[in-house]
Amino acid sequence: MNIDFSGKVVIITGGSRGIGRGLVRHFARSHATVYFTYLSNEDLAAAVVHECKEQYGADVTGRRVDGRSGPDVESFMDTVWKAHNRIDVVVNNAAWIPRGLFLQMSGQDWSEGISANLNSVIAFCSSAIKYMIPAKSGSIINISSRSALHPGRGQAVYSATKGAVESLTKVLALEYGSYNIRVNTIAPGLIETDVAGTMQTELKKKIVERTPLGRIGTVDDVGSAALFLASDYASYITGTQLLVTGGRHLD
Ligand SMILES: NC(=O)c1ccc[n+]([C@@H]2O[C@H](COP(=O)([O-])OP(=O)(O)OC[C@H]3O[C@@H](n4cnc5c(N)ncnc54)[C@H](OP(=O)(O)O)[C@@H]3O)[C@@H](O)[C@H]2O)c1
Repeated sequence: MNIDFSGKVVIITGGSRGIGRGLVRHFARSHATVYFTYLSNEDLAAAVVHECKEQYGADVTGRRVDGRSGPDVESFMDTVWKAHNRIDVVVNNAAWIPRGLFLQMSGQDWSEGISANLNSVIAFCSSAIKYMIPAKSGSIINISSRSALHPGRGQAVYSATKGAVESLTKVLALEYGSYNIRVNTIAPGLIETDVAGTMQTELKKKIVERTPLGRIGTVDDVGSAALFLASDYASYITGTQLLVTGGRHLD
């Protein structure tokens, strides 16, 4: 599949590491002009910009933008719009992944989780759609999780917020399809990132055993899925959830 994003502007939240870094690399390699956000890790963000320039000669910019702040998101999107007069793709990837049983979660945990995982998606979608409507074109991809479909113990905040992102995605697909704006989610299973790195080997082994394709996912698995959904190959696909789980969602 040869996907070329030359001349297109792609925004990815949380691109300094993990799945987000993989997404930035995929779109950069496909000749997109990429803007990504990060929260605090300036050195990692600079490294991503550097590697994309070195390896692909790509036009990649990393900006510290806290997705929990609506005004910061507005101002960032406005800057990108003024520089290019277009925003073609937005991938809402940044999230906070808290763990703990329901009664262990404080009010602060809930508001942090809702702010990081849902309000940030609302802010980016709301801003992007305003720019995409006059263009009568756009693709938004919200990174959800298998946990939205199959919540696990200790994932109350995470699963609830990802479930909300799934519902919001469907509503936006319904409301803005007539403007040729497509809105979809990618719901990954366990992906080899810092999150997987903190898991016990035994638990990872169990997950692999219960995954039909017999392995943990990679950031490239998610990157390829996002490229496809953002591309014209997916021009009749909206309001869908693409499960990138190696089949584990069947378990
Ligand atoms: N990893 C998995 O196994 C897995 C499975 C299913 C779904 N997912 C989903 O995939 C996405 C990425 O997960 P990941 O494991 O790659 O995450 P990660 O390694 O924790 O990276 C998170 C990224 O988001 C940025 N970020 C966090 N909060 C932010 C905020 N408020 N504003 C701006 N940027 C912020 C971080 O920036 P800094 O580096 O500056 O902190 C970092 O770039 C998430 O939506 C997650 O729920 C992951």
